[in-house]
Amino acid sequence: MLSLLVILAASYLLGAVPFSLVVGRMMGVDLRRHGSGNAGATNALRVLGKGPGLLVFLLDFGKGLAAVALLSQIRVGGESLVGLLGSRPELAAAWAATLAGTAAMVGHVVTVWGRLFFGSWKGGKGVATGAGMLTGLAPLPVGLALLVFVGVLAATRYVSLGSILAALSLPLSLLALHFGFGWESPPPVWIFATVVPAFILWTHRANVRRLLDGTESRIGSKAG
Ligand code: G3P
Repeated sequence: MLSLLVILAASYLLGAVPFSLVVGRMMGVDLRRHGSGNAGATNALRVLGKGPGLLVFLLDFGKGLAAVALLSQIRVGGESLVGLLGSRPELAAAWAATLAGTAAMVGHVVTVWGRLFFGSWKGGKGVATGAGMLTGLAPLPVGLALLVFVGVLAATRYVSLGSILAALSLPLSLLALHFGFGWESPPPVWIFATVVPAFILWTHRANVRRLLDGTESRIGSKAG
């Protein structure tokens, strides 16, 4: 039980590192006062430029991947989370990775470091960290979601719409891979891929309102 709590706490604290706000502060800019106001890679790209935007994306993606690949594997006091979660090691490992990655994704959106050092719990929208997390769990559906994202972005230049539709594609990709190619995914991956679109829709609720009333900014437009 101790290992579960320690790993979830460590994953949350890693996910909560608000890299966009850190990079913004290093450049003398409070990202929450510019562009969309979001503490994420898209707004870093919009406000700070391509290099900082890419850096923030890689760091946000990396923390989701690290939570899944590294933190879920650590042992605490000789106790392994995988051992704790069940007698079937592969399934238990999938649960451990999913729980650790989910904690990181929640940390990215509701950030204690943001509250302590930047005055607000409000973090980013979870796309890059969620993508990193899911890459560690089930890379193939992420690859398909990336195709959806790139296609929507190329057609509309709305990153938010690309993110939302890519997230919505995840359960559909899993279904297509399962029924079309017999591709097996463990239950936690199915659960995560089903819950994540709702979560991403919720974090993008302001974007959805702007998309509906035609005021969402397109990437490449001048930042506010
Ligand atoms: O990942 C966030 C992206 O989908 C939207 O970001 O800054 O346009 O609200 P932003």
